[in-house]
Amino acid sequence: MVKLGSYGGKVRMVIGGEESAAEEIMLLWGIQQPTLSKPNAFVSQSSLTLRLDSCGHSLSILQSPSSLSTPGVTGAVMWDSGIVLGKFLEHSVDSGMLVLQGKKIVELGSGCGLVGFIAALLGGQVILTDLPDRLRLLRKNIETNMKHGGVRGSATATELIWGEDPDPELTEPAPDFVLGSDVVYSENAVVDLLVTLGQLSGPKTTIFLAGELRNDAILEYFIEEAMKSFIIGRVDQTLWHPDYGSNRVVVYVLVKK
Ligand SMILES: C[S@@+](CC[C@H](N)C(=O)[O-])C[C@H]1O[C@@H](n2cnc3c(N)ncnc32)[C@H](O)[C@@H]1O
Repeated sequence: MVKLGSYGGKVRMVIGGEESAAEEIMLLWGIQQPTLSKPNAFVSQSSLTLRLDSCGHSLSILQSPSSLSTPGVTGAVMWDSGIVLGKFLEHSVDSGMLVLQGKKIVELGSGCGLVGFIAALLGGQVILTDLPDRLRLLRKNIETNMKHGGVRGSATATELIWGEDPDPELTEPAPDFVLGSDVVYSENAVVDLLVTLGQLSGPKTTIFLAGELRNDAILEYFIEEAMKSFIIGRVDQTLWHPDYGSNRVVVYVLVKK
């Protein structure tokens, strides 16, 4: 168990080696048995609004359930790993394991924006990013949730397509933190996602990724490729928010090698 980057909790290293990605997958699927627990435990993807209390605020996240039927559109509704990651950040700050106040934070594949909003409520200067056609709903949610008093940090949205050159506002200076929930779900996007993580990461950048345990082969491929450039640690559920645990979700911390 080691500390990685700017996160104060001790994480389980995913040790590099030929079989280590496969071992990680066997551990996750063998011990957590994700398929036995309920999917979408914290979200309702058929509702137009998802409500969640965080940091003393009542967040009201607009969703577009009908957009889910459009091929390739996944960020129009919330996913459990977003709730888990947002609540993990809140719990980590409350328990003194993490400081987000005044930090530059970039979120990848923000979708409806909940994770970035919680990071802004915790004091971060957050840039939420997604594909160009996803920004309308994201900006509506910023308008609804972030434009009133009491937000300690800030939240803005900009386009970022993985694998393409990021806008310099994202990379200069390098973010203190990069966040992503449920961004490892398509085999075709793994390499581009890792290119973007590499472009955004400086020597002091800490990445938090929360993933849904729905496809072992894609997660194994991601870990295998990510281990070439990043040190990876898994955050035990004992360090998550006590009310937001799930055997279908995994949380990783990554830092550049
Ligand atoms: C499954 S959704 C997760 C949304 C949100 N993070 C959550 O947890 O609810 C995946 C997100 O990644 C975005 N995404 C997928 N491929 C992308 C790419 N190539 N570049 C940028 N964003 C991408 C999608 O638009 C979507 O918002």
